[in-house]
Amino acid sequence: MRYISYLAVLLVLSLHGSGQKKTIAQKVDSVLRLMTLEEKVGQMNQYNGDWEATGPITKDGDKQNQIRRGMLGSMLNVTGVEHTRELQQMAMQSRLKIPLLFGQDIIHGYRTTFPIPLAEAASWDLAAIGQSARVAAKECAAAGVHWTFAPMVDIARDPRWGRVMEGAGEDPYLGSLIAAARVKGFQGGHLGDTDAVMACAKHFAAYGAAIGGRDYNSVDMSLRSLWEYYLPPFKAALDAGAATFMNSFNDLNGIPATANGYLLRDILKGKWKFQGFVVSDWGSVGEMINHGYVNDNYGAAKAASIAGCDMDMESRSYIKNLATLVKEGKVPLAVVDEAVRRILTKKFEMGLFDDPFRFCNDARAAKEWNNAENLAKARTMAEKSIVLLKNERNVLPISKTTKTIALIGPFIKGIRDNLGFWSYEWPDDSGRIVSAWAGVQKKLGSGTQLLYAQGCGVTDSSRAGFDEAVAAAKNADVVVMQVGEARDMSGEAKSRSSIRLPGVQEDLIKAIQATGKPLVVMINAGRPLIFNWTADNVPAILYTWWLGTTAGDAIADVLFGDYNPSAHLPMSFPRSEGQIPVYYNHFSTGRPAKNDHDLYYVSAYTDLPNDPKFPFGFGLSYASFTYGDIKMSSAVLKPGQSVTATITITNSGRVDGEETVQLYIRDMVGSVVRPVKELKGFKKVSLKAGESREVSFTIAPNDLRFYNDKLEYVFEPGDFKLFIGGNSRDVKEAAFILKAD
Ligand code: GLC
Repeated sequence: MRYISYLAVLLVLSLHGSGQKKTIAQKVDSVLRLMTLEEKVGQMNQYNGDWEATGPITKDGDKQNQIRRGMLGSMLNVTGVEHTRELQQMAMQSRLKIPLLFGQDIIHGYRTTFPIPLAEAASWDLAAIGQSARVAAKECAAAGVHWTFAPMVDIARDPRWGRVMEGAGEDPYLGSLIAAARVKGFQGGHLGDTDAVMACAKHFAAYGAAIGGRDYNSVDMSLRSLWEYYLPPFKAALDAGAATFMNSFNDLNGIPATANGYLLRDILKGKWKFQGFVVSDWGSVGEMINHGYVNDNYGAAKAASIAGCDMDMESRSYIKNLATLVKEGKVPLAVVDEAVRRILTKKFEMGLFDDPFRFCNDARAAKEWNNAENLAKARTMAEKSIVLLKNERNVLPISKTTKTIALIGPFIKGIRDNLGFWSYEWPDDSGRIVSAWAGVQKKLGSGTQLLYAQGCGVTDSSRAGFDEAVAAAKNADVVVMQVGEARDMSGEAKSRSSIRLPGVQEDLIKAIQATGKPLVVMINAGRPLIFNWTADNVPAILYTWWLGTTAGDAIADVLFGDYNPSAHLPMSFPRSEGQIPVYYNHFSTGRPAKNDHDLYYVSAYTDLPNDPKFPFGFGLSYASFTYGDIKMSSAVLKPGQSVTATITITNSGRVDGEETVQLYIRDMVGSVVRPVKELKGFKKVSLKAGESREVSFTIAPNDLRFYNDKLEYVFEPGDFKLFIGGNSRDVKEAAFILKAD
């Protein structure tokens, strides 16, 4: 068959295309008709780059030859204008010149590292979170990246799972809003702009519910829980236009997500009508052998492709077996054609057929990377992410005229540990990343003497540094400590059975506390940690997560009051690993404990209070916010109507501040039992010292829907409670009745 140049085909079509969508569909079909079966399977194949990101690439390796033969549709972990250009040039040597897609884990920044996603979630600031993704997109797109494997939208209630750092915490309502904000941030105004990258909602689905918080472990849950808690952020990401999805590693109710037709075909591509494509997680197609779901890669390729996994990341199951499966009639050609159509459609939408090199632009890289605007946004995001957990006797903010401050702990002068997991290191980085020490130094100048002592290591048991640290504390007017996790202690494959402060860090805190000096403890971590003694005995505590490039500047802004902390926890903090999973939107049970001391045949631990150490939504301010009583516009809500709950918030403190006012509801009786609280709204309110303001929330019947035992998304008439407060525990209460008509 004489192949007319596909460019000629495109030229003809572009003259007759009646509109962008129809034209792309026609173009995709025109290319598809020219493709051999092997070339189609090639588009469903993704390899990892194995060259140094900034070094020369080997030009004759097997991967390069596969690219030249059109046997590769995408690569990951290949960045840089030069590097991506060279590989794209190889793709242009293939018969049909189908461009490569370059994907990368741009989770919380590329050149400018932002706070980890869980920290950003603590800001409850959707605009700032969207900005963070926007900066990340602009910086990585300038490096030839077309596609980020983010946002991770997995709901997680178990902090033993190290990947909680990557998501938005335990709540589906907050998690859904953040998922949408991140998708829009990454994809920008229009997919196809050269500062926009395809988003990837991951990991589909319920990966955060791994049994025991052990990464990659099985997930077993009712479909009702799946729909009620774990799917909503994915639907939000899809509704926000997410171009791709990534299936998760876990098996869900016995079927690996990679080949879970219920997830990929029935829900995602069926009910939700997803038009993008699904990429497997790393090697997850082949890992179904380990799952005991298939016998070999041949069976894996069959199961995954038929279930709706469109692209095989790194397992080579597709490239080695799919063409044979089709020829043998084991996999319909239509399955391959549909997957390739989805992939090619995104390549057309990204403009890569028009110009495969449009993302390879050195001038844009120079302009976008590390510019002052990006750093300023990172600093603002970091400030908004810091949670004030305790501040007795107003130890914070520290006066800038303090004569001597001791800065103590294993992270005080830490540089790269501020970047957290899923971050990139650059040769010129160390000068750019701001440690807490550097941030304080910059903030205070020479008027204050700073004393430093590391005190102890992160995980070791040596107390050799304690004396020096205690001496520094005794010579200071106030002490600031920075303890917690090193950057590789939370993240992928970092599940831990103990999530206490590692090593002897809490012993060091005790030794410093014993000096009687005013003490601030800052905790760097990628997850909720357990630090009960510190929480009970230290007067001031800041949760500083992993805040990224500008960490020290943001920390100094908060320590000295130039930024009044406003963050609120996106996850409950347990008192003990034995309490996990602990989350706010739990059911009442038939024997709810009346309080923390009620042990008389109730659902409680005899050795631990029932509630978490710090509840979901908790966060203090240097201001203090008091809540009036809730006024309801009506005690009765009818279908087609709404009720409004209004409350007056007063900043009775001495400084201006921002409060995140949270709205929860409780459906008192349902056809399935309902949580004791469900977040249904929040508003961030800035109040000057002494200022009061009315804050209102409107509730309509559709806000009260849930999945019943038939998986119908319904609201049911009956009594409801409504709560408003600054966290999920300390709330004012009201009530209303939802009528059937
Ligand atoms: C990893 C992660 C996934 C990531 C992918 C590519 O194993 O599970 O989140 O996007 O592989 O690095």
